[in-house]
Amino acid sequence: MAEVKIVNLTIEGRPVSVPEGTSILEAAKVAGILIPHYCYHPGLPVAGVCRMCLVEVEKAPKLAPSCATSVAEGQVVRVHTERALEARKGVLEFLLINHPLDCPICDQSGECELQDYTYQEGRADSRYRDPKRFNPVEDFGGDVLYVPNRCILCTRCVRFMDDVAHDAVLNVSERGDRALIGKFEGKDLAHPWSGNVVDLCPVGALLSKDFLNKARAWELDRVASICPNCTQGCNITIETRDLQVARLKPRPNEDVNRFFMCDYGRLNYRWMNRTDRAEQPMVRTDGALRSIDWDVAIHVAAAVLRDARAFVLASPMLSNEALHLLSRLVRRSGGTGTFCVATGEEAPLPGVEDLALRSDRAANVNGAELFGFKRVDRPLDGLRDGDVLVIADDGLSGITATELARASQVIVIGTTLPEAAHEAAVLLPIANFAEEEGTFTNLRGRVQRFTQAKPAPGLARPSWLVLGDLLGALGEQDSFYLPSDVFAKIASSHPAFSGLSYEALGMRGLPVLDGQTAGTAR
Ligand code: SF4
Ligand code: SF4
Ligand code: FES
Repeated sequence: MAEVKIVNLTIEGRPVSVPEGTSILEAAKVAGILIPHYCYHPGLPVAGVCRMCLVEVEKAPKLAPSCATSVAEGQVVRVHTERALEARKGVLEFLLINHPLDCPICDQSGECELQDYTYQEGRADSRYRDPKRFNPVEDFGGDVLYVPNRCILCTRCVRFMDDVAHDAVLNVSERGDRALIGKFEGKDLAHPWSGNVVDLCPVGALLSKDFLNKARAWELDRVASICPNCTQGCNITIETRDLQVARLKPRPNEDVNRFFMCDYGRLNYRWMNRTDRAEQPMVRTDGALRSIDWDVAIHVAAAVLRDARAFVLASPMLSNEALHLLSRLVRRSGGTGTFCVATGEEAPLPGVEDLALRSDRAANVNGAELFGFKRVDRPLDGLRDGDVLVIADDGLSGITATELARASQVIVIGTTLPEAAHEAAVLLPIANFAEEEGTFTNLRGRVQRFTQAKPAPGLARPSWLVLGDLLGALGEQDSFYLPSDVFAKIASSHPAFSGLSYEALGMRGLPVLDGQTAGTAR
């Protein structure tokens, strides 16, 4: 590989060293300085159309657009000089000429770059006295609404559709002060990744229909997580309001999803707010499931499992931690572990290498396989007469209660009690993915952490805690106090995970070390 040349310069008096070819705007980020910008986005080709990023470069006669100017050896850049500030103030004044005073009713308010930079560098008042231009709101298709009056014509949305989605739907229609974003004749934002234009829009001109008027940005709590809806493992932020998941947003990770997430993953979150949840540990007494203390329920489940062969039907949405503990239940009894996966059509994002909505629509298919679970087509494939059936958060879709009769006993460890499993002997309620912490292994073998976004309902507990206690009651091990304790156990006992820890994974993950089992790491 050719050696990368390093260029040294100063920005606002701070020395910076960056690879040759870096833009001044990116170099300034390294120095901890955010140069205001609109049309520039690191995930899109540079357009240089908004002129918001003008800075002064020593010895250059004119101000330079920092997004489109590369660093040079010995360059001296000034961001906050009177000349640069005056130019950017002028840009903001022009952008605001036709912009409505819409902030109180705009979904972007509180996370709007027009608000932020105007507050930071704009004029205190407007000199414009004429009526503002008006255009009606337009449905752009998919999940996207266009509010032209708020548009600053940065063209990020156009470039995303052209250069990343490779589906030219949007354009700049008209010219001069009549210009606005239009759709090509007969086209709609129907691409499976088109929802990203809403995140890319720096103002409130492109809005998500799903999120419309749902919450103000400052009412939302945010945690770092992983999209659970396919095996790609896109890094996301879960945003909650009043303990309900309100929105999923992509979180940048250059190695997995760059800055993007697909519409299927983005909009498939309502199940995280389900209200028909299993909330109390229950044990069958006098023919009916009755609520009981956790300790008793765990001991009854342990007694059922003690001398029996376990058939564990696990959900591939469970964490590595839960699947590891379940695999130990299988191993100690000489039993079988299986899982079923819902599938759909694969949908790549052509402009990003190895990024697609994958056909396996569950986060941890690779993890389930690494822990020895076998993929089957029907949930009960492989169940033997007399097995104790452990249903670990599988919904038993398409299965009737009579098909479960082959099992000697049924234990449900799940977020809900499936219809077909109403005759279960024990129900141990667990937190769903958004309510606990853990890790997933994506299709390339990358192990990534997700964190808790909201509390579990009732007395439901994290899956790793319940399974750890169950193994403890079976005399298999000591209790775990944290999910990181379970992960440490995995790292010490499973060669594919050796050397990994929550600290080492950070919030962007690492490939599992056993590349042969897990595929090529990106
Ligand atoms: S709709 Fe948003 S992203 Fe598209 S050009 Fe207008 S301001 Fe930019
Ligand atoms: S590609 Fe998969 S992981 Fe990424 S957002 Fe879509 S469903 Fe989620
Ligand atoms: S961000 Fe540089 S010209 Fe728009």
